[in-house]
Amino acid sequence: MELCRRSLSNILNMVKQEPLPISTRILKNDLLLKALDGKPVHRPPVWMMRQAGRYLPQYMELKNKYDFFTRVQTPELAAAITLQPIDLIGTDAAILFSDILVVPQAMGMEVTMHEGKGPALPAVIRCMEDVEQLIVEEAAWHLQYVYDAIALTKQQLEGRVPLIGFAGAPWTLLCYMVEGKGSKTFDKAKAFCYTQPEAAHALLQAITDVTIAYLRNQIKAGVDCLQLFDSWGGLWDKEDFAIFSLPYIQQIVQSVKYECPVILYAKGVWHSLPELQETGAAALGIDWCNTPQQARKLTNHSITLQGNYDPVKLLNPVNKISQDVKAMIDAFGTTRYIANLGHGIIPNIPVDHAKAFVQAVKEYKAE
Ligand code: CP3
Repeated sequence: MELCRRSLSNILNMVKQEPLPISTRILKNDLLLKALDGKPVHRPPVWMMRQAGRYLPQYMELKNKYDFFTRVQTPELAAAITLQPIDLIGTDAAILFSDILVVPQAMGMEVTMHEGKGPALPAVIRCMEDVEQLIVEEAAWHLQYVYDAIALTKQQLEGRVPLIGFAGAPWTLLCYMVEGKGSKTFDKAKAFCYTQPEAAHALLQAITDVTIAYLRNQIKAGVDCLQLFDSWGGLWDKEDFAIFSLPYIQQIVQSVKYECPVILYAKGVWHSLPELQETGAAALGIDWCNTPQQARKLTNHSITLQGNYDPVKLLNPVNKISQDVKAMIDAFGTTRYIANLGHGIIPNIPVDHAKAFVQAVKEYKAE
């Protein structure tokens, strides 16, 4: 029934070429969608990036039984992990348990995950011939397990909160596909862009094409909103960001925004907030290197902002967290705002501290 409603409104929407009236979808808690729509709310919605993760003992139980990609590729496990923070922490949105690196995997690259070391891609992209070997057209169909996990999660959520789908931005995925592992500087990835721009743009375009198909399928499977992660966007200066990241983000947002609101999280990219706003994203994610006041000013007070609590600050005592959260909401304002961290939660955060963060938003009262 919901799918029918959605496809009908999608068709109508494509004709009108206007964003969907987001708040009209049937959800018991639609604070997130209202905030994305700029509608008034009694308090801002709250969720945490990486909220399904290693700080939760219940996540560790499943992590100890099944390896990373088994958890990601088994819809029942992915759905169970996605629901954990809803039941245990009480966030106002669920984000699908998956990973941005499933896209390079679907494009034919080997990706493994190593405890303490992070991801490894042993056969990296080095030249145009490597780019030409990648699977593009059928790649999104290799991710059926993601769509199945979305459908199952939506069923199990029973409309309690919206479900966020996601993907990595093309530049952030290129980082891993060229570097082969995590890095502080991703200098090999940047050098690839500088020395082989033609191959780099071909790769960025291939990732973009796959990502658009992938996100469209996530929407069909039932996600209520999308987040695009450009976690390494901040490695570029403004000029190079405009060459190697922004145009591809723009294509993706433009291709899906009429069907589903998009939150654009580009870490460290405060220099291009106005350009990110122009992509048509419904909201921009902000990290703690920018102030709420500055971010509001740069975006002309006219877009929903999400963030920006330093996840490490969750190591403070709970009363300090509550004070900080109140100050953060005072600074951003309650409308056009989604309370969140400025990056993913880290494994050594006590569960009570994560709960205190969420609770402080729920108890917020403006003075
Ligand atoms: O936010 C959520 O709760 C949803 C799940 C999610 C994961 N990864 C699960 C995960 C999301 C949205 C991601 C996105 C992701 N993956 C990003 C962008 C966001 C960001 O943090 O900047 C990036 C860069 C990746 C790539 C990736 N995956 C790395 C670098 C690592 C290793 C670092 C680490 O935290 O261990 C992963 C592994 C990963 N993805 C874990 C989780 C819960 C931890 C591994 C495990 O629990 O076994």
